[in-house]
Amino acid sequence: MQTSGQTIAETLLAWYGDHARTLPWRAPPGTDAATLGPDWPYRVWLSEVMLQQTTVAAVGPYFARFTHRWPTVAALAAADEAEVMSAWAGLGYYSRARNLIACARAVAARGGFPDSEAGLRELPGVGAYTAAAVAAIGFGRAAVPVDANIERVAARLFAIGEPMPGARPAIREAAERIAPTGRAGDFAQAMMDLGATICTTRAPRCLLCPLRPACAGHATGSPETFPLKAPKRAKPLRRGRAFWTLRDDKVWLVRRPPNGMLGGMRALPDDGWSARGDGSGGEGEGEVLGMVRHGFTHFDLELVVVASERTTGEGEWWPASDLDSAGLPTLFAKAASVATACIETANKPSSSPRA
Ligand code: ADE
Repeated sequence: MQTSGQTIAETLLAWYGDHARTLPWRAPPGTDAATLGPDWPYRVWLSEVMLQQTTVAAVGPYFARFTHRWPTVAALAAADEAEVMSAWAGLGYYSRARNLIACARAVAARGGFPDSEAGLRELPGVGAYTAAAVAAIGFGRAAVPVDANIERVAARLFAIGEPMPGARPAIREAAERIAPTGRAGDFAQAMMDLGATICTTRAPRCLLCPLRPACAGHATGSPETFPLKAPKRAKPLRRGRAFWTLRDDKVWLVRRPPNGMLGGMRALPDDGWSARGDGSGGEGEGEVLGMVRHGFTHFDLELVVVASERTTGEGEWWPASDLDSAGLPTLFAKAASVATACIETANKPSSSPRA
């Protein structure tokens, strides 16, 4: 049975050498970050920001588009903010895109990324996880980022008995205990890959796991219960209305205020649901075209889409046939689809009368 932290890291790194996922933002196992050129930390940082709360599969095309259009942090720093927000559309959590621009500008102004975890932590929008990930993967510094995958692997390996989120300090301590003295970037990404492909949330594939002999969670017979969950609280429901104003095959779109939910994004005008926390607001005048449900982190939203004659707020007329290029966030893209589908159904000629 493996016990020492070093043995676990060695086993994991050997597994990673054979099974690392090939990802667009990743160097092959064993690569020294110092050999990867001046734009390497930028690519690592960009991928890490995109990967927060978003799957590897969803991030792939966005990462390709961003690095093609803005291949360096200086290019991103010089970009038009509205263009960056549009390019981000669909990835969600739009405050990340606003922070991305602010951070790129701060980095460009100081002539490059700081190469230490503490220095990275000072950048706008860079939290503890991102600073550690960029320090480890981007610069090969001895840092241990702890994301949800790493959290799960460490909680299971040591069968940490405290429920989340209180278990976090013990989980971090466990992850730091097994980290190797070198290859910090590979170690972090090996933990991530193990968590994503084998030590999965549901039905972990323990038979394939290189760490099974050392895993206290496996020894309990119920590894999937770790990390232990906090009792669930129901999410509140908010209600709101979005307005669909169509003239000459063009739709009225507004730009949301820079701060607040979906800030800076193009959108359908709405009734201010994002500022209300009391669940009111689904009712009102206007022909109802449909309804969209959307889950945000802290609440669920029911957004009724209503036909309106009025243009509210400052905005622009956008061709209804080209809404895909408007960069609408998912909520409003869904609302637009509902409205379009409703109008198409209403305009369809009814089937020919029966003989
Ligand atoms: N999730 C967050 N960062 C990642 C990375 N570098 N590789 C794979 N999954 C990740």
